[in-house]
Amino acid sequence: MRKKLVFMQWGIIGAGLIGAKRAAALQSLGEKVAAVADVDGKRASDLAAQYSAKSFSDWKKITHDEQINAVVVATTHNVLSEISADALQHGKHVLVEKPAGRNPSEVRAIIAAQKKSGKKVCVGFNHRFHPAILEAKKLCKSEKYGKLLYMRARYGHGGRPGYEKEWRFSPKISGGGQLIDQGSHLIDLSRFFAEKEFALSYSVCKNYFWKAAAEDTAVLVLESPSGISSLLSTSCVQWKNLFSFELFFERAQVNIDGLGRSYGVETLTIYRMKPEMGPPDVEIRRFEGDDESFRAETEDLIMRINGKPSVSATLEDAFESISIIEAAYKKKSKKG
Ligand SMILES: NC(=O)c1ccc[n+]([C@@H]2O[C@H](COP(=O)([O-])OP(=O)(O)OC[C@H]3O[C@@H](n4cnc5c(N)ncnc54)[C@H](O)[C@@H]3O)[C@@H](O)[C@H]2O)c1
Repeated sequence: MRKKLVFMQWGIIGAGLIGAKRAAALQSLGEKVAAVADVDGKRASDLAAQYSAKSFSDWKKITHDEQINAVVVATTHNVLSEISADALQHGKHVLVEKPAGRNPSEVRAIIAAQKKSGKKVCVGFNHRFHPAILEAKKLCKSEKYGKLLYMRARYGHGGRPGYEKEWRFSPKISGGGQLIDQGSHLIDLSRFFAEKEFALSYSVCKNYFWKAAAEDTAVLVLESPSGISSLLSTSCVQWKNLFSFELFFERAQVNIDGLGRSYGVETLTIYRMKPEMGPPDVEIRRFEGDDESFRAETEDLIMRINGKPSVSATLEDAFESISIIEAAYKKKSKKG
């Protein structure tokens, strides 16, 4: 099926950790990485050299380039919105990294640009494409174990020396701290699994350890009008890296543990309740190997561009997630 699709010329804006992963994913799909831009010109030229691509320190050289069909925006959060909107205005498809903006109005600005351009956008919530998560999503859809009742998730890591000085902790650049960083994935996954809107019912954002201007830990309770709730906890005072997402159905509990590498082998465990209840039957599936989620997400966007069904996060999804994050931050600032 892929053979019939048109291959495109891509520009990568932001040549950091994720820009490099996105470029590798594109190449693995046969797409052309044609240009790379980063304010740090050396970063741009180092990454560009791996793909025989052009490199720039000014991102507009990519958004204004008529040869470029699609753009990955993998910068710090403060410029995600401006760059994505400009790329759309210049007729490019866009893969913008999560959270797509520091606040709802920045995401809304990209939505407005997309509506005018008619081009396709995916927001990089790549966790949707981890294999255990896709399997759990199928169980939600099929209702094989009954209705989804509630969810409970934890996600965190232990930082690194000087972590409190990184941009991720600067509200001006990032829009917040750990909640907008890793916590945004948990909000997106709650919405992805339940296919429901959620409102913030409870939140605590605190600094326990890092001497930074934004929270290192957040706990949220989300509730949907249909009665599904999601208890989310995210922290970079999590000395052993952790990813855990539990889904509770009427007749089974489904646990997703690990995301590979330092988070441990990705595992899906299904605890099936028996009619007589008591200890459940247990089925464990392990997903070893490399993280293919960036590749799968990029492929999904290419399908969307080609008018095929697609499950990657939309700008509207990102808007809902950032609205919940904003509500938690507003509550925190009211408390002082
Ligand atoms: N999906 C995931 O699992 C995941 C994981 C980590 C980060 N991210 C997201 O990816 C994005 C980038 O994160 P990262 O970890 O790669 O950060 P990073 O610090 O490694 O890279 C960001 C790059 O953006 C560049 N940049 C900043 N302003 C720029 C501008 N105006 N023009 C061009 N380049 C500019 C920086 O110089 C830097 O090289 C963020 O949105 C982050 O939230 C996603």
